[in-house]
Amino acid sequence: MKEVVVSGIRPTGKLHLGNYFGAFKNFLILQEQFDSYFFIADYHSLTTHPTPGDLKGSVKRVLAEYIALGLDPEKCTIYLQSDVPETAELYLFLNMNAYLGELERVTSFKEKARTQPNNINAGLLTYPVLMAADILLHRGVKVPVGKDQEQHLEMSRTFANRFNRLYNCEYFPEPQAVSLGENLIRVPGLTDSGKMSKSAGEADSIYLNEEASVLNKKIMRAVTDSGPQEAGAPKSSAVQNLFDLMALVSTPETIQFFEDQHKQGAIRYGDLKKQLATDLEQFIAPLRDKIDTMLGNEKLLNEIAAFGAEKARKNAQKTMREVREIIGFGNR
Ligand code: ADP
Ligand code: TRP
Repeated sequence: MKEVVVSGIRPTGKLHLGNYFGAFKNFLILQEQFDSYFFIADYHSLTTHPTPGDLKGSVKRVLAEYIALGLDPEKCTIYLQSDVPETAELYLFLNMNAYLGELERVTSFKEKARTQPNNINAGLLTYPVLMAADILLHRGVKVPVGKDQEQHLEMSRTFANRFNRLYNCEYFPEPQAVSLGENLIRVPGLTDSGKMSKSAGEADSIYLNEEASVLNKKIMRAVTDSGPQEAGAPKSSAVQNLFDLMALVSTPETIQFFEDQHKQGAIRYGDLKKQLATDLEQFIAPLRDKIDTMLGNEKLLNEIAAFGAEKARKNAQKTMREVREIIGFGNR
């Protein structure tokens, strides 16, 4: 039996380079070799967007992006989290064995409690439990995610092991975060505020369907430091961010050229940015066209979602029959 891969992205905006290089690129490779489940985490999006203006539209966008960027419904299972309500049942069971103290210590919870003080809801607190349910529902072992999700994966392992111990079984495997390079990736944003993130504002992210003119403007306005430092001085974090982005899309020769310029204290950030904008545009142009075309194909998107929902539910129902049995509920 092939190992099971599970991952999802919340439909809270357009996909950006961080989502692509941190998570999605791995989906494309893993779908070729494993029994993969890629879903759209629409339940999760309610933890931060409880009354989404256009949830259907946001979900459709991510689905269109999934397909346009190369996920193949024949090779993997693509579905909406809310189309598989078994997720919610497993979440309920796992919640019975998730403790307040450990949930309160999760970095993403503390961070969200700070950024949305008027909506510190229980869903936010139990976000890692829902995420564990997503993964364990398919008995997933490989979870392609960016570095920011490492702690959530640690929690998934805790919940899987605790379930096994409590019910004296070896039912759930331990899920591991995976990235195809050895290290989990962190793509920086353009505002030097940390990882590229939808929540850091428009200027921080480069979207996968960014228009050339907007892309150019965003890069030219990206934060740097006050100017070339003396020869041999270390890079500031803002400048390192631009180099990190370059590492994703530029040729080794281009990167070496700017590295040398920086070492000599002769770098011109304007030139670096122009080159980065050109290389990013080359990377994005074909994706942009595919995404736009797919967004116009509503009928196909609906068919893909229905096909995936059926496959995912079948597997989920099997797991839930077994889980109910293990816990001690009668199955009829
Ligand atoms: P955002 O932070 O913009 O809201 P999500 O939390 O929806 O993005 O992330 C979806 C997936 O993309 C996750 O697997 C996450 O680890 C990955 N990801 C998001 N931003 C980055 C980033 N800047 N670098 C690497 N991976 C990222
Ligand atoms: N928490 C993930 C994120 O913010 C999204 C997600 C939800 C997920 N459930 C998952 C990722 C299960 C991998 C597996 O990006």
